[in-house]
Amino acid sequence: MLSLAVASSAAAIAQTPVYLDKTKPIEDRVEDALSRMTLEEKVKMCHAQGKFSSPGVPRLGIPEIWMSDGPHGVRAEINWNDWGYSNWKNDSITAFPALTALAATWNPEMSAIYGKSVGEEARFRNKNVLLGPGVNIYRTPLNGRNFEYMGEDPYLAGEMVVPYIQELQKNGVAACVKHFALNNQEKWRGNVNVVLSDRALYEIYLPAFKKAVQEGKAWSIMGAYNQIWNQHCCHNDRLLNKILRDEWGFDGVVITDWGGAHDTKESALNGLDIEMGSFTNGLTSESEFTFDDYYLGKPYLEMLKNGEVPDSTVDAKARNILRLIFRTAMNSDKPFGSIASPEHYAAAKQIGDEAIVLLKNSGILPLDPAKYRNILVVGENAVRPLNEGGGSSELKVKDMFSPLDAIKAVYGDGVKYAAGYRTGRAMYEKEDTIPQAVLDSLRNEAVAMAKGMDAVIYIGGLNKNGFQDCEASDRREYNLPWGQDLIIEQLAEANPNLIVANVSGNAYAMPWIDKVPAVLQSWYLGTMIGPSMADVISGAVNPSGKLPFSFPRRLEDNGAHYFGEKSYPGIELETEGGNAASDLAGADVNVGKNPQQEYLEDILVGYRWHDTKNIPALFPFGHGLSYTNFEYGIPSLSAKEMTADGSITLSVPVSNIGRKAGKEVVQVYIADEKSSLPRPAKELKEFRKVELAPGQTKVVKFTITPDALKFFDDKAHDWVAEPGKFKVLVGSSSADIRATEQFTYK
Ligand code: BGC
Repeated sequence: MLSLAVASSAAAIAQTPVYLDKTKPIEDRVEDALSRMTLEEKVKMCHAQGKFSSPGVPRLGIPEIWMSDGPHGVRAEINWNDWGYSNWKNDSITAFPALTALAATWNPEMSAIYGKSVGEEARFRNKNVLLGPGVNIYRTPLNGRNFEYMGEDPYLAGEMVVPYIQELQKNGVAACVKHFALNNQEKWRGNVNVVLSDRALYEIYLPAFKKAVQEGKAWSIMGAYNQIWNQHCCHNDRLLNKILRDEWGFDGVVITDWGGAHDTKESALNGLDIEMGSFTNGLTSESEFTFDDYYLGKPYLEMLKNGEVPDSTVDAKARNILRLIFRTAMNSDKPFGSIASPEHYAAAKQIGDEAIVLLKNSGILPLDPAKYRNILVVGENAVRPLNEGGGSSELKVKDMFSPLDAIKAVYGDGVKYAAGYRTGRAMYEKEDTIPQAVLDSLRNEAVAMAKGMDAVIYIGGLNKNGFQDCEASDRREYNLPWGQDLIIEQLAEANPNLIVANVSGNAYAMPWIDKVPAVLQSWYLGTMIGPSMADVISGAVNPSGKLPFSFPRRLEDNGAHYFGEKSYPGIELETEGGNAASDLAGADVNVGKNPQQEYLEDILVGYRWHDTKNIPALFPFGHGLSYTNFEYGIPSLSAKEMTADGSITLSVPVSNIGRKAGKEVVQVYIADEKSSLPRPAKELKEFRKVELAPGQTKVVKFTITPDALKFFDDKAHDWVAEPGKFKVLVGSSSADIRATEQFTYK
């Protein structure tokens, strides 16, 4: 008997099972593994086993899945069973620029470098899923989380997200695109029910996700906290079954946002695969409520056993999860990765250099280091570690080069610093805890020091505190906080050579704009924030960033805010029955009141609103100046007519007529002259960033296809291009159109 057992196990060793045989097609391996699993093992895979991991199949040697935030670097290790950091000593990494900054480069090559670099860091840290990138559309400048997304235009966000995903996944690390869908505000994010037209959904809010899935081929996606059609996004039948799987053919894993599941049956039936982070007392005391008590744990197993939901539901989930494991944890061809390498710092610097936007310049910039020596730097963001706070995107960096240090390195010992204001540190701080007397004295000190200096560089803006650029709460005001408007006004009076270089992931009011000679919009640029800012200020780098969202003059000038609270933040209905928000404790959580919100501006988001309603933005979408000048020649179209199966080539000559090498983003917008449904004044359909030496001209070519002419007809549930006349508008921003051409679609 014994010898027989030994013999048969020897035979088993000799024959590699299909699921372990990497020469076999992945779908065969998935089916083979599935056929060997028990029902209990399948269910176990569908929910967390710890804060950031889900189990594999230990008996079969199928490894667990390790996830990490995301999206600007790999987050420090978190405890198994609570949100505390584990204090490991080997998890300090590179902080890459925030995704808003990436979008501001308008350069898909930067996305590729970003994805490759952050992917290598995730791989080195042994992560299988990186929780990002995020492509929720920038609808309101109050959204606390805009800094993690890629702006207000679906085409820009879609073009930028694809290379990030493709390069990231080459490391055997899955992207987890988030937050699907309509998580466009943090206030009441846990349960607000978003009401919008199918047109707005398909034209504005879904395209970047669709590209992430179909062109980026993302291996996972994260459901959003909020509701749509009165059903939570994490187990939303239409969103996940119909749109994501049936319409788009997604073959990856749907992961909940942490605590985004609310119901076992819906989670079983509606396309969800892995439930993470459910808010139970089990998070801190496993004995009371274990991970197996999650909606997709024991309750699901019981429903399967009782026949209340079919076994096919768990087989579908296990298939998706196995496929993800084969692509990541069991992918033996992946590279080994690296962290905090010189290459990654160089990548962060390069992206940061291309991201900073020169909003206004009366000629003082670039600030010549040979001429300007006595410089006062004012503002907390010149020294504050801006990778701290902000929520789940918080990072523990190996190095952080501050703007103040970098400016000193360029301009020398004549650089002095004054804080100008101070803020607290708490993420969920309810009120500003800094006494007015302290703010007054810091401001007075800075203004007194500003007099007599060669120049003043103000580095303020927002930060990652609660109610600023921070998850789980929205901003409470459009103006800059902590009395910064007054500081900037007084600094401008004290010194005519004032440069405002603000850091934020959001637009803000600029009541002082006419008094300030130069304004730079910097973003959260991570480890290399200082060197990128100093190089743009000194002119070592010629700025080439363009705004990925509009800066309205006033909050009411933004489409979402125009319609009042019904549209933002929504109305709390006095009916019971809303699900308790089960996300992070703290800020703006709304329990039980079932808030509803209508996207009344519909498809007119961002510049689409400003342009169509003739409400000029202070700084429009696509705006960004350079230290050189670009001249646009007369564009030409290869034909004046387009047919359904044809295309037209647009050629745009662009010249650098200044004295510095620089990069320009040529933007192509399309306007439909007459249509059966109302359309925005124009929409971005192509763009290209080109580098030009002084005196150089390049002809930039674009291919326009009927897809660029289509709108979503919600009655027909289809994209439609209507015959008629179309305009092609070529511009340096959405409001700076340099040439217009026309053609007819037949
Ligand atoms: C955030 C996600 C994040 C998750 C895990 C949630 O609160 O919304 O974006 O990936 O936490 O940290």
